[in-house]
Amino acid sequence: MSVGMNLNLNRAAPVEILDSTESTNTYLKALAAKAPLPDGYAVLALRQTGGRGRMGRSFSSPIGGLYLSMLFMPDCPPERIPTLTPCVAVAAARAIERVCAVTPGIKWPNDLLLSSRKLCGILTESSVARSRRFAVVGLGINVNTPPDALTADARNVAVSLKEHLGREVDLAALGSAVIEELDAMYSSWCANPAYCVEEYRRLCLSIGRAVTLTRGEASRPAYARDIAPDFALICDIDGKEERITMGEISLR
Ligand code: BTN
Repeated sequence: MSVGMNLNLNRAAPVEILDSTESTNTYLKALAAKAPLPDGYAVLALRQTGGRGRMGRSFSSPIGGLYLSMLFMPDCPPERIPTLTPCVAVAAARAIERVCAVTPGIKWPNDLLLSSRKLCGILTESSVARSRRFAVVGLGINVNTPPDALTADARNVAVSLKEHLGREVDLAALGSAVIEELDAMYSSWCANPAYCVEEYRRLCLSIGRAVTLTRGEASRPAYARDIAPDFALICDIDGKEERITMGEISLR
């Protein structure tokens, strides 16, 4: 449990606040496997000792950042679950817009960037407990993160809100806004998925850009044209249209 952070929230599901944990995703997945938890249960940590990123990478998580995981148990076909991740990117961008008056862009599929540097990463993991599929979506935002507290690799690509704005950001206000936007996004995701895609398009930096697609060891140049209703990236590659659903891109 944590000392000293008060979130101002009015919601049914609890938010557990930890000073430190290995990984909020690992913590929440273990909790959800052990006992039934309400949809929307959230865990927020002030630091992580073993933060995890996509593709088996680590995620540098020192004090000053916001590390949050939320449990989603939607009643939907399992193949729809991955579309939660881009919606979480939308929710995080909207919360940052609301609290900090800057608008981060989304680099497909789900990194948030400010001034072309990485502000936030998102990791979704899905599992089954008591015959029910659930997803744990975790996001890490560099809020007041001191650059020299990051690993060298992270420091090379990252930006924090504090660096960008030139002032500290209230971590509790941002944490509350992220959770509120996640709750609102989840309602839209259930009731009106088209709205989430529209919001994603508004914030997506990759559309209309020359990009390099990377999957495993293979890289190829492409032109990113649009986002499909299932959040696939529609690309022109060698004069042909392709739907990209896996891998990563870099903007050229
Ligand atoms: C990435 O950029 O590759 C994804 C990073 C996801 C980091 C968040 S921080 C909260 C949650 N707990 C983790 O261990 N990872 C996610």
